Amino acid sequence: MALQTIKIPDEIKRLPHKPVATRLIRLARERIDAFMAGNDSVTENFVTCDFYLLDQSLTWIEQNHLLTGRRFCELGSGFGVAALLAGLRGMESVGIEIESNLVQQACDLADAVDLPTEFYCGSFVPRGVSGILELGRDVEHVETHEGEVYEEIGLEMDDFDLFFAFPWPGEHPFFEAVFEAGAAVNSLLLTYRGRDGMDLVRKL
Ligand SMILES: C[S@@+](CC[C@H](N)C(=O)[O-])C[C@H]1O[C@@H](n2cnc3c(N)ncnc32)[C@H](O)[C@@H]1O
Repeated sequence: MALQTIKIPDEIKRLPHKPVATRLIRLARERIDAFMAGNDSVTENFVTCDFYLLDQSLTWIEQNHLLTGRRFCELGSGFGVAALLAGLRGMESVGIEIESNLVQQACDLADAVDLPTEFYCGSFVPRGVSGILELGRDVEHVETHEGEVYEEIGLEMDDFDLFFAFPWPGEHPFFEAVFEAGAAVNSLLLTYRGRDGMDLVRKL
């Protein structure tokens, strides 16, 4: 098995946003800022990606017909903005987050924008990824233990067509290994890489 890199052109930054996506991002930003300001015990692993670039990446993926289906999963979903942006596009989307207070925030945001996107509390690492202990050895910002969350969702990892994650610097190999081990052939993993923008791979 291998991952094929799909280059996302810089020009995507000129793609327009639908007003409904802009409204969602603004509302999320307000809520995230208030949450961070009012919460001393905010999880230190929670930082947010560039939601506008994420929306443009989703537009580009759709415009180029790269999807094999309409199921979307955000791995480590925080406030759930990626899953909600996918939900706005009519995708069947879920988010998985280990911190229950963030799951609650994502559910509240889904209610506020009237989307059926579901958020689940647990680890996105599925059972049976071989070598997971070794893979997780140098990973500091991801909970590397396995969980049962896919049972609760009622879908396996290989039922999804597109995953999104925002790994901390240097920790993307862990997400790619989990994706390669559990996702379906031809599914996609989009990751935000800070200053390096978005990275897209397909499982071959
Ligand atoms: C860098 S934040 C990204 C949040 C969101 N995806 C975004 O881009 O705005 C990573 C999130 O992953 C969560 N996380 C870490 N390990 C996890 C695991 N094994 N399963 C689910 N969530 C996890 C953290 O609590 C944190 O909220």
